[in-house]
Parts: sequence; C-alpha cells; structure tokens
Amino acid sequence: MKKTILITGANGQLGSEIKEQSYNTPEFEFIFTDVNELDITDLNAIEKLFNKNKIDFIVNCAAYTNVDKAETDTKNAELININAVKNLASISKKHKSPLIHVSTDYVFDGNSKIPYKETDKTNPQSAYGKTKLLGEEEAKKSHKHIIIRTAWLYSSFGNNFVKTMIRLGKEKDEISVVSDQIGSPTYAKDLASVILTILKLSDKDINNFKEGIYHFSNEGACSWYEFASEIMKQKNLNCKVKPISSDEFPTPTKRPNYSLLDKTKIKNTFNIEVRDWNVALKDCLKLI
Ligand SMILES: NC(=O)c1ccc[n+]([C@@H]2O[C@H](COP(=O)([O-])OP(=O)(O)OC[C@H]3O[C@@H](n4cnc5c(N)ncnc54)[C@H](OP(=O)(O)O)[C@@H]3O)[C@@H](O)[C@H]2O)c1
Repeated sequence: MKKTILITGANGQLGSEIKEQSYNTPEFEFIFTDVNELDITDLNAIEKLFNKNKIDFIVNCAAYTNVDKAETDTKNAELININAVKNLASISKKHKSPLIHVSTDYVFDGNSKIPYKETDKTNPQSAYGKTKLLGEEEAKKSHKHIIIRTAWLYSSFGNNFVKTMIRLGKEKDEISVVSDQIGSPTYAKDLASVILTILKLSDKDINNFKEGIYHFSNEGACSWYEFASEIMKQKNLNCKVKPISSDEFPTPTKRPNYSLLDKTKIKNTFNIEVRDWNVALKDCLKLI
C-alpha cells in the first residue's frame, strides 16, 4: 500500500518545490496543507486530520520565516516555530509517524571560520534563530525525527533574494550588496529532492530513516555580493553591483557573518550528490 505523506506549509518555497516533484513521485500519496487547510498551531485540527487519514510521514515546511519581524513579533514566531512543532511531535509520537523538520543556519552565531558541523555548538543571535533552535528540541521528541538545517533558501516560488535582485536589476543601474557575510545558497528544489530521497529510502526500509540533525545547502561558498553579481550575470542584467560591509547596511537582525554548512553527514548517510550553487541557480533562473 502507498504511504501517505503530510506536507505542512505547502504553499511556501520548500513546500511548493515538494509539490512540483510530487507529480513525479507516484509511489506516495501526498496531503498538501498550508495554514488555511491546517494551522499547525492548532493541535485539535491536526488530530482531526490524523483521525481521518492514515499518515505515515510528516514533513514540516511551515515556519515563521520573517527574520526581522520575528524580533518584535516574537510571540507569533514562537507559536509557529516552537509550539506548532511540539504539536507535530506529539501527533508523530501518537501515530508513530516519523517527522522531517527543517531548521536553519541561524542557530549558529556565525563566528566560525570553517563549515558548521551538526555537532557544533549552537548560539543563535536572533529571535528567529532562538525560536528555530527551540523548535529543533521539540522535533526531537517525535516518534522518529530528521532535522535538516539549511541556509539562504530560494526558489521560483515565493519571495526571496534572487527575485529581489532581478527586480532591482531591472529598475536600477547600480545596487550595493553586503560582501562580508559568507554562505552557500540553497535552491529549494534541491532540498525538496533530498527530502523525497529520504522518504523513498525510508519507504523501502524504515531503518533507512536515520534519525538526527543534518546540514544541507548547495555546494560552494559566496558572499551576498557575489550571489547578487552572479544573478545579474546569468540574467544579463545591466546593473552594477557594489560591495559594501554589513555596517553600511543595518538591518533589525544581525545576520551571521559565516554560515557555511558542512554537508558530509547528509551526503554519506543518504548517498546524495549536491550541485554547485551557481549551477542550481542557473536551473532556477530558467523559471523566473
Ligand atoms: N527562507 C530561507 O532563507 C531559509 C533559510 C534557512 C532555513 N529556512 C527554513 O526552511 C523552511 C522552509 O522555508 P521557506 O522559505 O520555504 O518558508 P516560507 O516560504 O516562508 O513558507 C512557510 C509556509 O508556512 C506557512 N505557515 C505559516 N504559519 C503556518 C501555520 N501556523 N500553519 C501552517 N502553515 C503555516 C506560511 O504561510 P504564510 O506565508 O501565509 O505565513 C508559508 O506558506 C523553514 O523551516 C525555514 O525556517 C529558510
């Protein structure tokens, strides 16, 4: 019998990419929900859904992702990034449905000089990062859990840095972008594909659902300035990108200066190949 996968936050970047790939994944039934169909802060609503359907795996793509707003709207960020994950973990335990949950590089302080490993000390600097770290702790209480920390997510769906750069590239002759924050962009399509790979492996043999925390982004490293320059180049936009320091571009939340994630564990455990960030970008830009 086909296994049923619940996807929460299905209208977001990651959820939409999973939906796209679900059309080529006939081995599963999917239940796609976003806040209008299933508000994950509402435990009764989750219980009702589970009482009506046999759900074999949960993939939580829902989150409060507005990093700057989370500094002042902390209550809502906590509700969605912590309390709602607690709800999913408790239903996961009750129905023995493993949970795949997504977290962030913002759980780190960004002071490292080498890519962060899953075992490195966390030290979130923002309200968003703090809520996501506490959300990880809730996810760990599931029947079985996999937590994937990712960074700099973009997609042809939703709003993100790539789309903002394309808009600015069309409107302006010159823009300034910070060059002292280093990371690796992640095409949400590639993360969606990894999640589906894990589900397929686990469908074959549940022992393949190897619990724990994993890091995933595309390969390579760049600054936001280099990322923006590559977007302009690949899109043939005639807009000069000027490097500036983070001090010259103050935001309500301090971003990590360094957020490269070491992907060795996820690659080895699930036998995954990861594309370079500029190759993945090219793929995405065909759709924007
Ligand atoms: N975006 C990044 O750069 C980034 C970086 C690192 C990690 N991550 C993590 O990656 C995951 C996926 O991010 P994403 O960029 O795909 O997020 P996204 O595009 O913001 O999508 C999140 C979705 O969850 C929905 N949602 C919010 N509250 C909900 C609730 N109570 N119940 C059900 N759905 C709810 C949102 O609806 P509304 O839009 O109506 O609120 C939205 O459709 C998240 O866990 C995020 O923390 C993201």
